[in-house]
Amino acid sequence: MQLIESISKRHSPRSFDNKGIEQEKIELLIEAASWAPSAFNNQPWRFYVAEKNKNPEFYNNALNCLVDFNKSWAQTAPVLIITVVKTTYDHNNEANKFALHDLGLAIGNMMNQATVLNLFMHQMAGIKFDKFNKLLNLPQNMEPVSIIALGYLGKIEDLPAEIQKVENEKKRVRKPIEDILNYSPLK
Ligand SMILES: Cc1cc2nc3c(=O)[nH]c(=O)nc-3n(C[C@H](O)[C@H](O)[C@H](O)COP(=O)(O)O)c2cc1C
Repeated sequence: MQLIESISKRHSPRSFDNKGIEQEKIELLIEAASWAPSAFNNQPWRFYVAEKNKNPEFYNNALNCLVDFNKSWAQTAPVLIITVVKTTYDHNNEANKFALHDLGLAIGNMMNQATVLNLFMHQMAGIKFDKFNKLLNLPQNMEPVSIIALGYLGKIEDLPAEIQKVENEKKRVRKPIEDILNYSPLK
């Protein structure tokens, strides 16, 4: 038995090709996200797509919300996706404590679809939240969560020298299964 390819091939690169992404591929990624399950089927996820070529002003405003480290490499990505959650349920306006959980499921679907399309995504929480919270002019029950760099894989050599070093030294590691899998409560 082995992992499905969209899991084993996925990783979070910091170098992207500056080639834009076909509109139908962007829409397929959003459709993949939309098929995720969610509490009460509330689908609390929202996505704002900022494309360097098509909407440079929005793209630059999003880029400027990133902390400097992220900005230095994320600017190679042709597309930035801003993720947002609706924090209340549609049916009763009460707090939806699964909103972030469900956004994560939707992004997971999107990443699987991206990998199949040969696209790569790198999620970021390293954001200047004071700026970010004002970027989209959202109502009170909508919260911006993260920014995702999206694109085809680029060359590490095209990155600034200090990021090349980080990328070349990066190791993809995971906790061993026995640390995360339990068959009974802790004694
Ligand atoms: C919610 C979230 C926030 C992240 N924030 C950042 C970030 O600000 N900057 C960064 O370089 N990587 C960020 N990452 C990427 C993680 O460091 C990366 O997913 C992790 O090291 C595992 O590597 P892999 O995605 O290649 O498997 C973030 C990932 C997630 C899911």
